[in-house]
Amino acid sequence: MAPQIYKGLKDVYLDTTTASFIDGQEGKLLYRGYNIHDLAEKSTFEEVVYLLLNGKLPTRRELSSFDATLRANRRIPDEVIQVLDLVKASHPMDALRTGISALSAFDPDVNDNSPEATLRKGIRLTAMGPTLVAAHHRLRQGLEPVAPNADLNHAGNFLYMLFGEMPDEETVKLLDVDFILHAEHGANASAFGARVTASTLSDLHSAVVTGVGVLKGPWHGGAAEEVMKMAEDIGQPENAEEYCRKILESGGRIMGFGHRVYKAEDPRARHLRERSKALGEKVGQPKWFQILTYVEENVMVPYRKKGIFVNVDFFAGSIYYLLGIPDDLFIPIFALGRIPGWTLQCLEQYKDNILIRPLLEYTGPMDLQYVPISQRR
Ligand code: ACO
Repeated sequence: MAPQIYKGLKDVYLDTTTASFIDGQEGKLLYRGYNIHDLAEKSTFEEVVYLLLNGKLPTRRELSSFDATLRANRRIPDEVIQVLDLVKASHPMDALRTGISALSAFDPDVNDNSPEATLRKGIRLTAMGPTLVAAHHRLRQGLEPVAPNADLNHAGNFLYMLFGEMPDEETVKLLDVDFILHAEHGANASAFGARVTASTLSDLHSAVVTGVGVLKGPWHGGAAEEVMKMAEDIGQPENAEEYCRKILESGGRIMGFGHRVYKAEDPRARHLRERSKALGEKVGQPKWFQILTYVEENVMVPYRKKGIFVNVDFFAGSIYYLLGIPDDLFIPIFALGRIPGWTLQCLEQYKDNILIRPLLEYTGPMDLQYVPISQRR
């Protein structure tokens, strides 16, 4: 009998988790039991990372000590900066992947997969990730990397290292919320990839490298970059209809729409929509939000019947763009937010490990006769 094939592992439960809960029909997301709306509105990225990695909200004291650890771990070795310099022509996502790989050579816990060591490495990677992305961005412009500033929070320090100047509070809060919204999301493709790596008892750096590689694709984290390219191509709201129709009629997809799990609006999109609108008005560029909402409220309305709504990537790109962040840094920013989630998924995987190794049904020819190369025509 032919085996049942679950293409794309759609609707397959691979394990249990206490990391996040997603109700795709209702558009609901909880991290460790806490609603994403509360976390986006009331929390900070540092607190959310603590929550994810420790399973509970910190006391003031716990948070302050955790935050101090993050701040103390931001520096990356000079050798890693040299590696980033060698690959300065790469896409920042490739440079981030290379940088994380290079960091493993200097991590004292690299091959220790105990929960304690994995947690330490996850915290270090969370802290060092922004330094990697910012240093590569400076190097590719022919500029010196900016050293981390321990007076600034995670988001603020990243902006400071990226642009070499003190960021304003509002911008820092925007990025902080963006990091919160991207921190964890169940068995999404990149977390699944990281889990597969961990399931072979490989180390956290290898798993995070896997996560970065998987996230890069335009059907996953790459969508934010593609959405902004689309908005730039559209140019004006009145062009949106025709532009999108052409894509859809030729069987293409509108980036930033659709999700494997959400068949209602992705709850993360709400926060980015509001902020994209406010930021566009503040900087005198409401056009991008108008283009995006035209696509959402006119072109894509019939797709709602099929459960296709905006996802987290749809408005994210416009925010980064309005903050003066180049398009190719959008996915690395997503990755920086997601490092804690990948770490948590790996911790769960190690805790009750089983090798993740599905099957493929073979449909090729059988028992062919091997012909020596000299006799092949
Ligand atoms: N635009 C137009 N049609 C779409 C879109 C879209 N963005 N997304 C899905 N569809 C259509 C498909 O063509 C398919 O139509 P059909 O039934 O007529 O063949 C139907 O909706 C179902 O799509 P699937 O590909 O089966 O859905 P799946 O769960 O496999 O894909 C995915 C999810 C990959 C995210 C898809 O919606 C997509 O490609 N979206 C655009 C890329 C994107 O925004 N990715 C970011 C996702 S969020 C994240 O990863 C952080």
